[in-house]
Amino acid sequence: MNTISATNKTTILKKLLKFFLPILIIPIIVVVFFYHYYINTLITKGIINQSKNTIERISKSQDIQKHLKVSQDISLPNISIIDSEAKVILTNILYDQHIDIIKKYIIDVTNTKDVKLYHNKANKFMIKPIVENNKVTAFIIINYKNNIDKRLATTSQTLTFILVIVILTFFISIIFTLLFAVQITTPIKELINGIEIISKGDKTHKIEVSTNDEINILVNSFNDMINKINNHQKDIEVLNNNLTHRVKKEVEENRKKDQQLIQQSRLAQMGEMISMIAHQWRQPLAAISSTSTSISLKAQLNKLDNDLAIRLSNKISDYSLHLSSTIDDFREFFRTNKEKRDITYNELIQSVLSIVETSILNKNININKNINCNDTLSTYPNEVKQVILNIIKNAEDILLEKNIQNPTITIETKCGELVIRDNAGGIPNDIIDKVFDPYFSTKTEKDGTGLGLYMSKTIIEKHCGGELTVANNDEGAVFTIKLRDNDD
Ligand SMILES: Nc1ncnc2c1ncn2[C@@H]1O[C@H](COP(=O)(O)OP(=O)(O)OP(=O)(O)O)[C@@H](O)[C@H]1O
Ligand SMILES: [Mg+2]
Repeated sequence: MNTISATNKTTILKKLLKFFLPILIIPIIVVVFFYHYYINTLITKGIINQSKNTIERISKSQDIQKHLKVSQDISLPNISIIDSEAKVILTNILYDQHIDIIKKYIIDVTNTKDVKLYHNKANKFMIKPIVENNKVTAFIIINYKNNIDKRLATTSQTLTFILVIVILTFFISIIFTLLFAVQITTPIKELINGIEIISKGDKTHKIEVSTNDEINILVNSFNDMINKINNHQKDIEVLNNNLTHRVKKEVEENRKKDQQLIQQSRLAQMGEMISMIAHQWRQPLAAISSTSTSISLKAQLNKLDNDLAIRLSNKISDYSLHLSSTIDDFREFFRTNKEKRDITYNELIQSVLSIVETSILNKNININKNINCNDTLSTYPNEVKQVILNIIKNAEDILLEKNIQNPTITIETKCGELVIRDNAGGIPNDIIDKVFDPYFSTKTEKDGTGLGLYMSKTIIEKHCGGELTVANNDEGAVFTIKLRDNDD
């Protein structure tokens, strides 16, 4: 199981900060931007408009006295009126140096007869000529710089206050966010630690958290789940134990069954063997019998000299040796190999044929050998020989049963593969899948056990780790034994 890494532990905290920071930073940016824009644009524009309105109102009164009255009514401290000679009629703000500056602009204003704005670093003026009877009689001047400065001062005070509040809110929010995050992450960390302990194997560990909220509910559900998993695991362990016990029992029973089958098939094979031994022995026994008859006849006719007696008795002893070696072959055949041995395909085939060939040839069945591989392979020779013998005997049975013309069994080897085929017409398609099943036999007359091919497949595939398959070709059945040449 994966352990929870330290980086994961801080994820919630990070996420909260990521989420809250933009929310807090955005108002600050908005305030700063607004502050800047307001100061530079809005206030200036507003004051200019306001001053223009004032100057228009004053200029609309009909004569100088009225202008003065209107301007006094408005009681603006920054309004001045000078006559066409630049003599000051009314002023709240104009000083001599201002008058000098204004004089420079008067001619310009006179030409346009409109409100003109004059900005420099120290002053911001607005001048409008008063025209009476098509003649400029005076100029109304508003110096609105003070207005702007004052408004800026108050606005900037307000905005600074707002900014301070926003920044304070920002920091307070961060502190609250952190506190909130810590409140969430602490029980989650406790949960993660508990999960780590459980994942390391302590399934009895109970996770405790000190909160009384959804996380507590989550932890309780988790504890419940672990309990259930533990119970299920115990059930599974019990089931597993039962299953292992049953599998062991079944395997043991199967082994016994297999042993019985092997025994049964051995007995059947021994029956076959006895008939083969009979075939093998018939000729040497006849020879022994005729030699001893000849000894007895010669003795009766007094024609048995020493030389002849020795020659004939040597002959009998040779035949007896032959009989004895045949018995050795058979005995060797039934001995099971406990260990693998190196052997060539040729040796395997020769050894089977030495037992079976005479009886097959006596039944006028041809045996073709086609050995194409002289490599050795490491295997259990006697087991493989039994398989070869089973397949050859089956071919013999079917060739005789069907009374095939020119009956032939062909044994062919390529490296890693041994093929035994016959020309008896093949295995019918409806039973070809069953021939390796135990007790499957079509040999009613001969009383077949149906164990030959089953045992053969078991030997090749389970014991020797190879493969035994069957198929039909145009002439008959083709059995292929593939043996692996390895030492496992
Ligand atoms: N070369 C073959 N051609 C056609 N059919 C075959 C051939 N070899 C086997 N069979 C079929 O496969 C069946 C099963 O063979 P298997 O060797 O397992 O048992 P069996 O030969 O019938 O009995 P037992 O081996 O005890 O004599 C045979 O009864 C036969 O029908
Ligand atoms: Mg058989």
